[in-house]
Amino acid sequence: EVNADGYLILEKRLLAPETWSFIVQAPMVARGRKPGQFLMVAPFEKSERIPLTLADGDARKGWIRFVMVEVGATTKAMGKLNQGDKLFAVAGPMGRPTELVDEGTVVLVAGGYGSAAILPAAQALKARGQRVVTVLGGRSRERVLLAEELEAASDELIITTDDGTLGRKGIVTQPLAEILEREPVAEVVAVGPMPMMQAVSESTREKGIFTLVSLNALMVDGTGMCGGCRVSVGGEMKFACFDGPDFDGHKVDFNMLRMRQNWYKEDETAAQDHVCN
Ligand code: FES
Repeated sequence: EVNADGYLILEKRLLAPETWSFIVQAPMVARGRKPGQFLMVAPFEKSERIPLTLADGDARKGWIRFVMVEVGATTKAMGKLNQGDKLFAVAGPMGRPTELVDEGTVVLVAGGYGSAAILPAAQALKARGQRVVTVLGGRSRERVLLAEELEAASDELIITTDDGTLGRKGIVTQPLAEILEREPVAEVVAVGPMPMMQAVSESTREKGIFTLVSLNALMVDGTGMCGGCRVSVGGEMKFACFDGPDFDGHKVDFNMLRMRQNWYKEDETAAQDHVCN
């Protein structure tokens, strides 16, 4: 969709180094969005389209929020835009919404930029009165994103950092294991670096807890055409942009994904300027 007038940037805020939160006027996307969905943004007329996870929005006021990391030419140029500027094209919401159970406690686990993707799930669960426990991890204090928003949308928020500069020192799977020991959990949703999502899936496998992981980081053009987001799930080839981005963590072939270029990258769930492969 191209709105001849563009899409007004209402607010732009620095969350972490080279990491921006944008609030943009986009009423159609705001009305239709559900947890786990993404949008495609072409910031300029001739620029590539970037898949970005929807982090928040207001259907009544018509705004949406997303988090963008400067990693290539297009996102760096986009990082120079300011409040009052306009984005050329915004399309969405896209992707299948996150499947959230209707009853029981849901544990949300976010690593790094995964907090943007997890926030709408926390808000939706909170709105319908379900118990939400969120575990939020980052390398250091400055890499823990949207903690305030997640705290407001969760019954309990546990923060971990690799270096101990905020919350508990360590990784998200430690508090997750404690939660699984202490109370019944109906579902776990994990969004973050691939090794983290694999570790979360392994920790719930034996207990048979329904576990979703978001593979939005694999997306390249978000169209179902490039094949860059293919993943083997339960022995079947799927596309993250078309069949996902959420998949059953117990069925995802993480070992196949391990071969991919961005396995060890910190900012896997953030927008990236990809090269189609
Ligand atoms: Fe290109 Fe899914 S992102 S096919």
